[in-house]
Amino acid sequence: MQISPSILSADFANLQHELEAVRNADWAHVDVMDAHFVPNLTLGLPVVEALLKVSPIPVDCHLMIEDPDRWAPGYAEAGAQSVTFHIEAARDPVRLARAIRGEGARASMALKPKTPFAPYEELLDEVDMVLVMTVEPGFGGQSFMADMMPKVTQVKEAVRRRGGQIWIQVDGGVSADTIEQCAQAGADVFVAGSAVYGADDAAAAVEELRALASAHAC
Ligand code: DX5
Ligand code: ZN
Repeated sequence: MQISPSILSADFANLQHELEAVRNADWAHVDVMDAHFVPNLTLGLPVVEALLKVSPIPVDCHLMIEDPDRWAPGYAEAGAQSVTFHIEAARDPVRLARAIRGEGARASMALKPKTPFAPYEELLDEVDMVLVMTVEPGFGGQSFMADMMPKVTQVKEAVRRRGGQIWIQVDGGVSADTIEQCAQAGADVFVAGSAVYGADDAAAAVEELRALASAHAC
């Protein structure tokens, strides 16, 4: 059970300090948005390169961008340990996943809430993680979509059938109130932005989320 705090809810003027504050987490989740794939703009490769130099934990890049075929391998080349592209935006996901892995990173595909999993099941041979979005991508602090839990279970069952080691990540509205149902449904990597950085003690929030998820592992 792994916790990946999203720095989208952190203080952007003090990102090094904000990464240090969650050094007990498994990953640092970095949301890259291009104002085209989603209606919000955050940061890009130069900032990720700077974060990689100072992060005490591996970096989990979630690319909410158009044309990931062109841009995503660069994040892996820069040293991000996990790179997630949106399947809705990828032109050649097999080639893209292989390019990310070829740079030594874990490759992951993300599904927006309205995107079904079944058409992409064959891609489980090419990725290390599937991200099931539990909000519409674009902003932190939105309400958790419990109706995504059947999709998480569907991915989990497909992973089990194939006998692989593929992780299932959930992102959006994950908190102490919602993480248990995610774990029960089959998720094993939990992104949390406001639930971690909105807490008085970010590190304590990470521990609490991990304990809740671990107690409800399926
Ligand atoms: C939303 C981002 C999330 C966001 C989660 O598009 O992908 O990573 O930061 O924030 P919370 O946990 O506040 O919903
Ligand atoms: Zn994200």
